Amino acid sequence: MSKKINFWPARLDVLQSLTGLLLVLFIWGHMFFESSILLGKDAMYWVSKMFEGEPIFGKPYPLLVSAMVAAIFVLIALHAILALRKFPGSYRQYHQLHRHIGALRHEDTTLWYVQVITGFAMFFLASAHLYVVFVQPDNIGPYASADRVWSGRFWILYALLLISVHLHAGVGIYRLVMKWYPFNAANSKTVRPRLKIAMWSIIAFFLCLGTVTLVTYMKIGWEHADRVGERYVPSSAANHQASE
Ligand code: HEM
Repeated sequence: MSKKINFWPARLDVLQSLTGLLLVLFIWGHMFFESSILLGKDAMYWVSKMFEGEPIFGKPYPLLVSAMVAAIFVLIALHAILALRKFPGSYRQYHQLHRHIGALRHEDTTLWYVQVITGFAMFFLASAHLYVVFVQPDNIGPYASADRVWSGRFWILYALLLISVHLHAGVGIYRLVMKWYPFNAANSKTVRPRLKIAMWSIIAFFLCLGTVTLVTYMKIGWEHADRVGERYVPSSAANHQASE
């Protein structure tokens, strides 16, 4: 008697990889846009207005930012539900996993555990961040963001989120390639160490970029602490006002 093959576990695996890939591409893009502050306050102001659709519609629509946050939230929820299938489910399973990791000393198994821990941390850290940008989409800009980071003490959340998300994204991309790239016995031994070097380089790059960016927001926020709530006026508008 022929047994019917259940394709659902494979389909769910593809969906988990796909949602993971989209989220990684998003966070890498996010880091470049958000680090525009390194080019100056005007550059970050311009990026924030671009996401509010001002260059297209002639005036800012912060609701567009909220819509993007909602889409990212749905992607995260989908990715997390699919990932939860693979989390250890009981104390016994955790105990066995620790024993297994200790005995195997296999780096890729350890990396999988890094994914579990950072993924779990992000349930809380990412939710707090997404909620704030969802309900206050008009509160993003050189001074608004810097005030939140420094006077609102968000730098603590961002420092923890920065480490979690870039470990998770870097390890995730490495695991994606290992899972779906058609290796053969001949090249697998040379490709794996190269992929590892690429993975650690990408993680180090985004951690450095994120740290320098975060420190820049903290510095601007610290200097602006006695004027919390005041909005940034781009230099073109300030010059225009001065010449009138
Ligand atoms: C559409 C959704 C998102 C928007 C609009 C957004 C926007 C921003 C903005 C404007 C900042 C600068 C600080 C501030 O204004 O509070 C920031 C920082 C940050 N965001 Fe997001 N974010 C989004 C999603 C995410 C997600 C999903 C993650 C990770 C799970 C994330 C991780 C971070 C981190 C780690 C920082 C600090 C970066 C640094 O140290 O330079 N963001 N975000």
